Amino acid sequence: MQLFLDTTDTAVLKDLAATGLVDGVTTNPTLIARSGRPMAQVIAEICDLVEGPVSAEVAAMDVEGMLAEGRKLSAIATNVVVKVPLTRNGLIATTAFAHEGIQTNVTLCFSASQALLAAKAGASYISPFIGRLDDHGADGMALIGEIRAIYDNYGFDTEILAASIRTPAHVTAAALAGADCATIPPATFEALFKHPLTDKGLEQFMADWAKTGQSIL
Ligand code: E4P
Repeated sequence: MQLFLDTTDTAVLKDLAATGLVDGVTTNPTLIARSGRPMAQVIAEICDLVEGPVSAEVAAMDVEGMLAEGRKLSAIATNVVVKVPLTRNGLIATTAFAHEGIQTNVTLCFSASQALLAAKAGASYISPFIGRLDDHGADGMALIGEIRAIYDNYGFDTEILAASIRTPAHVTAAALAGADCATIPPATFEALFKHPLTDKGLEQFMADWAKTGQSIL
């Protein structure tokens, strides 16, 4: 499973990328606004920090605007993936991008039927929003399973990118449901490393090791 970082914070990204466990990055207009920096500059910097896919989202709502913005974003670096909203226009643009060889991440997916259309449009990635569905009283993780079954039934190669992840349990459940990737906020990514029994066990091992008076080197 590929693990992406859902952030525009390049300092945090640099730190986590050093673990070798960050396969890519996703951004959205909210995260760009939060950075307080020009989008092109932030995306270029992120693309320098990670070799994997970096999603950069269009802001236009019309097809021509999406295509113009997507081509411009795609020219920033070879690993840019153009993020397109799951609207009728967004899927028309997705098909055009597929013909041009531009990778796409279709975002704001909340149903299996939307995901089916995105795959038919030739999306490289589909982003079902788990957390926001849960907030809405639905079962976000069930959607991952439905999309997995549909894509497998027809051999679609669109990758399922579990988005709007809020907890380590979301990451585990997305992996069990067959998501290809998950995009994770930095704090949740950090939490993936941790377990209280790991800390407790290590404390005991270190205390016992100190009693031996030995040194491995
Ligand atoms: C990533 O592609 C999405 O934009 C992001 O995961 C949304 O997360 P949120 O629902 O926590 O804003």
